[in-house]
Amino acid sequence: VFAQNQGTLNADQGKFTISKHIYGHFAEHLGTCIYGGFYVGEDNTKIPNKDGVRMDVVDALKKLKIPNLRWPGGCFADTYHWKDGIGPKVNRPTMVNTWWGGVTENNSFGTHDFLNMCELIGTEPYLAGNVGSGTVKELSDWVQYVNFDGTSPMSKLRTENGRQKPWNVKIWGVGNEAWGCGGNMRPEYYANIYRQYATFMTDWTNDSKLFRIASGANSSDYNWTEVLMRDIPHHMMGGVALHHYAVLNWGEGKKSSATEFTDEEYFKTMKSALFMDELIQKHSAIMDKYDPEKKVALIVDEWGGWYNVEPGTNPGFLYQQNTMRDAVLAGSTLNIFHKYCERVRMANLAQSVNVLQAVILTKGDKMLLTPTYHVLEMFNVHQDATMLPVEFKTNDFELNGQKLPAVSVSASKDKNGIVHVSLVNIDLKNKQDITLNLKGLKSSSISGKILASDNVRSHNTFENPAKVTPAAFKGATVNGDVLKVSLPATSVVVLELK
Ligand code: AHR
Repeated sequence: VFAQNQGTLNADQGKFTISKHIYGHFAEHLGTCIYGGFYVGEDNTKIPNKDGVRMDVVDALKKLKIPNLRWPGGCFADTYHWKDGIGPKVNRPTMVNTWWGGVTENNSFGTHDFLNMCELIGTEPYLAGNVGSGTVKELSDWVQYVNFDGTSPMSKLRTENGRQKPWNVKIWGVGNEAWGCGGNMRPEYYANIYRQYATFMTDWTNDSKLFRIASGANSSDYNWTEVLMRDIPHHMMGGVALHHYAVLNWGEGKKSSATEFTDEEYFKTMKSALFMDELIQKHSAIMDKYDPEKKVALIVDEWGGWYNVEPGTNPGFLYQQNTMRDAVLAGSTLNIFHKYCERVRMANLAQSVNVLQAVILTKGDKMLLTPTYHVLEMFNVHQDATMLPVEFKTNDFELNGQKLPAVSVSASKDKNGIVHVSLVNIDLKNKQDITLNLKGLKSSSISGKILASDNVRSHNTFENPAKVTPAAFKGATVNGDVLKVSLPATSVVVLELK
């Protein structure tokens, strides 16, 4: 039993790895995520690009060390016919993006464009297959097209289109949100369909053994997870997904403003974000029942804050600004994922560029890094490190008689023996002074970074892109086995202990 804001960091109890894939991203054909965000066209002479992919975005994502990138959706994935996006661009048919703004999609960014871009970024592709409006053959052909090294109709087509060697894509989604935009299916029906589709998604070589992901539950739809875990043979599925957004109310104009939110809206957003903890616990308990050895991973392949679009922008484009609220939301969520890293082995923030809780915003040839970007960069020291359990009793963050835990903490040890501790204070007004006993760790040197601002609504703009940026953190001391940290209101801190 600890006093308020006190706890123990158990550096001698590391057992599980924080998979780097928890730091995954998501790029959908939605608004200006692909067109304008990642891709500006081969003929663009104003924005530096390689084969049409903008290099400023590639460089920023490389620096972020994004481990995987999910594409082409989202809801778009279940309307996407990949064969429309290969071959000479002038010959590619158009389609209407029915989910996102009803705009015409010209298919100029397709399979080769995406997979070559992943190579440029140095990230693993995660392809989301079309189950809702596609066919078994279409998805089976896609796997063969990108992964088969021998002679076959699809590998021949790939070579004709300029790529001889397969890309060996391992991570595959079998549909998206099958309970909703992916076909409004019942879980029993989807489980059957999954078995059928997954069967014909061939593992062409041992090297490209597929990691198939079943379209998962909408937030607290626990029955969905129950049916999938019960009805799908576990050797056919590497992971089962879960989608949860921090949102106040669904419906256009009914959510919170991304920048002009009230304290009450801030509280509710954080409450919705922290609900992730309960969701993971409950979905995991169901998975434990069917899979006590934790062979099937829980994949949170859509998460983040969802607000009203920026005034004057297309409601179907989901373009929103990103403030310190998003920074603490991201930090708190990652701390939750770390805690459950034995089961949660992959997650994808929605979405990387210009959509929802983006890490990058672009405007013409300009690009800015959002507060969320900075948090993910500070936190990426935890990628593939050993999670160190932290027991901690936090103060409450109180607003109008309601309470939330103010501070979250997580820690890990990397392969060089360096311990990193990440701490988030979501309290709007109060700093939090915390003390951690370091069990099994004597540290003689400490350094750190902080992301904070005097106003939780602070954000970076194209006029002032560095308003919210990380700074060196001087508010922590270590004395033998006692770590003391003073966390300002609404701040994110990552410490390095050697
Ligand atoms: O990320 C935006 C949308 O949210 C995705 O297309 C869909 O899967 C989810 O409902």
